[in-house]
Amino acid sequence: MTTTAPALLTTHGEIDLSARSFWALPAAERDAAFTVLRRENPVPWSRPVESDLLPPELNTKGFWSLTKHEDIRAASRNAEVFSSADGVIMESFAPELTELVQSFIAMDAPRHTQLRGITMDAFKPKNMRTLEGWIQGHARDLIDEIADLGEGDFAVLVSKVLPARIFRSMFGMPDGEMGDRTVEACQRLLAFTDPETCGDKTGLEILAEAMTEIHQTAAEIVPQRRANPGNDLMTWLALAEFDGKRMTDDEIGAFLVMVGVAANDTTRHASAQAIHLFSQNPDQRKLLVEDVPGRIDGAVEEILRCSHPLNHMRRTATQDTVVRGQEIKAGDNVVLWYCSGNRDEDVFEDPFRFDIERSPNPHITFGGGGPHYCLGAALARTTLKSLLSEVYTRIPDIHASEPDFLIGNFSNGIKRLPATWTPESAWR
Ligand code: HEM
Repeated sequence: MTTTAPALLTTHGEIDLSARSFWALPAAERDAAFTVLRRENPVPWSRPVESDLLPPELNTKGFWSLTKHEDIRAASRNAEVFSSADGVIMESFAPELTELVQSFIAMDAPRHTQLRGITMDAFKPKNMRTLEGWIQGHARDLIDEIADLGEGDFAVLVSKVLPARIFRSMFGMPDGEMGDRTVEACQRLLAFTDPETCGDKTGLEILAEAMTEIHQTAAEIVPQRRANPGNDLMTWLALAEFDGKRMTDDEIGAFLVMVGVAANDTTRHASAQAIHLFSQNPDQRKLLVEDVPGRIDGAVEEILRCSHPLNHMRRTATQDTVVRGQEIKAGDNVVLWYCSGNRDEDVFEDPFRFDIERSPNPHITFGGGGPHYCLGAALARTTLKSLLSEVYTRIPDIHASEPDFLIGNFSNGIKRLPATWTPESAWR
């Protein structure tokens, strides 16, 4: 395995994508930095990331960045050259740990195809359409609970709660302490970069504790479902076969970690970002409120483009290759920056404008296509559509003040979002 010598220790002049301080900057400053990179140095090299998970002596690899939409799409669709098998977050761990935390998102074919195949049917858009009424019911019930409060922290009262309820029902998580603990672990796992979440623990402790809790849940539930099948995804996973093979208990545990985190931590941040975006852009809120059924689909796509709950995924080059004239060596880390591709001025006109009527809107928030394209995209879209339709029909003047953002290079999250709205009963 060879590693290319870095041409620059920082990526480009003052822009240092590896610095923790870069990810604590306001979003507009980070966006401005990526704009410079796209224009002047679209495939920059960075020193090893300032890691919250690994000590410097174990975190020795820098990374190439893909900042252009076209390059991210091409790499996402070329898994033979851009492999996921060494993991998709910045740091490389021992393969056993990567597998326990990241499941098949960190695998290549044929194993990826096999494990994804077992779970794929459950997430097909056709099945999601069947679930649409059920998801709408969850969204309606939740807005019933808050509509007359008139004020509250939207991120805590709503954004965090809806995906968790949907996840619990779909997976058949038991009511009570075990279900609460599992959801809480899913919500905590990706916050290992956030100083407030970590408190006096290290990022690695946060990640390891959360992962262990979720695996324990799987270890308890899977034998129960094999003995007494239910009508839920845990039963599906426990019994499903692909090419005559069942998933092992560890594989189910790892899948639960990955999908639990994916289900709880992404749609949640997108919905909080949505309220923030409409509060910053009252003209767009007015447009939506005038015709919610007619404009909600476009609004959801634009929210996904602008909110990009995951800033990046990583790949590892399996062979020497060239991107935009830049040589990349076999074994080098390559990071796909969705947050940058979604603002690429070669693809999106006026990319910093939040425009719910934008068409076409080929954002790469769910990945750039290819074998790892988000399995939950249809579920996420349906959840956001249901929730935001309820919100902008029933409490349409909701306005959020300054959000409290999660700090870190992976999740583009909102922890708290104080908001006010006219109580629903006052509109009647
Ligand atoms: C707004 C919400 C969401 C966003 C932004 C998002 C984003 C992503 C991204 C960027 C990827 C990686 C794509 C790639 O590497 O090419 C991914 C993969 C994945 N997502 Fe999502 N996701 C969301 C919601 C969900 C939900 C609700 C679920 C499931 C309940 C889910 C399950 C998965 C799974 C299982 C994978 C791995 C697919 C594979 O490797 O084959 N996601 N998602």
